[in-house]
Amino acid sequence: MGQRWLVTGCSSGLGRALAEAAAAAGHEVAVTARSTATLRETAARHPGRIVPIPLELHDASQCEEAVRHATARLGGIDVLVNNAGAGLFGAVEEVCDAEIRDQLETLLIGPWRLVRLVLPGMRAQGHGHIVNVSSLAGRMAFPGLGAYVAGKFALEGMSQTLAAEVTALGIRVTVVEPGGFATRYGSSLRRSARRMPEYAAATAGMLDGLRGMADDAAMGRPEDFAARVLALVASEGTTPLRVPIGRDAFLYLEAVEQATRDELAAARALADAPPPPALEDAAHDPV
Ligand SMILES: NC(=O)c1ccc[n+]([C@@H]2O[C@H](COP(=O)([O-])OP(=O)(O)OC[C@H]3O[C@@H](n4cnc5c(N)ncnc54)[C@H](OP(=O)(O)O)[C@@H]3O)[C@@H](O)[C@H]2O)c1
Repeated sequence: MGQRWLVTGCSSGLGRALAEAAAAAGHEVAVTARSTATLRETAARHPGRIVPIPLELHDASQCEEAVRHATARLGGIDVLVNNAGAGLFGAVEEVCDAEIRDQLETLLIGPWRLVRLVLPGMRAQGHGHIVNVSSLAGRMAFPGLGAYVAGKFALEGMSQTLAAEVTALGIRVTVVEPGGFATRYGSSLRRSARRMPEYAAATAGMLDGLRGMADDAAMGRPEDFAARVLALVASEGTTPLRVPIGRDAFLYLEAVEQATRDELAAARALADAPPPPALEDAAHDPV
């Protein structure tokens, strides 16, 4: 049966591929971008199934209006996909407070606001599915992407908490973690205003790789991402909270899990080790 979707960030990349796949599968899809002109082709390809809506994540009233509009046009929302996002590139020491706030507004506060706005409708109807698009950067660090990594880690933390709160209300929460996909992500990355030559060696290779993503044949295709998300939403029963998408995503995250286990074992060994003699002496010192 067709569902009513709200997908953010549909002017290009993963969001556009997902919106088109959902519409082609018979769902009705409210699609957003900052300029609705960028949504025209998608709407024209799926007449009657696509509702274009302007949305800047940083604009609280536009977020409210987007959810109100989508709900009114579709008669409710069954699936919210918090996909819209963009990155900031800069080493931790290079990035200023305003840039961090801006990044968190895009990656955390905007998506969180949309979750808050769709929940009353989902609770009232007794079902819903919230899909938050994270990244490998939601579980591991990349040099030069500290603010982006912080935003995606925070989105994953919020999603994990949300799942603990709403699963009993009939609402499913999924965090999808795409590996590398050929989209505009790398070319639309903003660079921090401050640039320090001291960090060039650690970050330059990373930035070059990201800038070239759209034309890199090794990257995944947005259509494959879309097919995986459609199948995930269609699947019945319990699904994992965090779902990596792409072969590279599983490879990276298996390595992350192993490194986490190794780190915990090393920390346990440290905790179990007898204290160094100097500390033992100090502990018995009456003064
Ligand atoms: N591509 C990858 O390899 C990859 C990997 C991991 C995670 N991701 C995540 O996947 C999501 C989609 O990215 P993509 O790769 O498809 O990149 P993309 O082609 O650049 O698409 C990003 C979309 O987000 C929208 N957007 C950006 N900033 C926004 C804002 N402040 N308010 C509203 N909309 C905004 C853009 O719309 P406008 O036209 O308005 O700019 C665009 O539609 C992002 O959350 C990204 O972090 C991507």
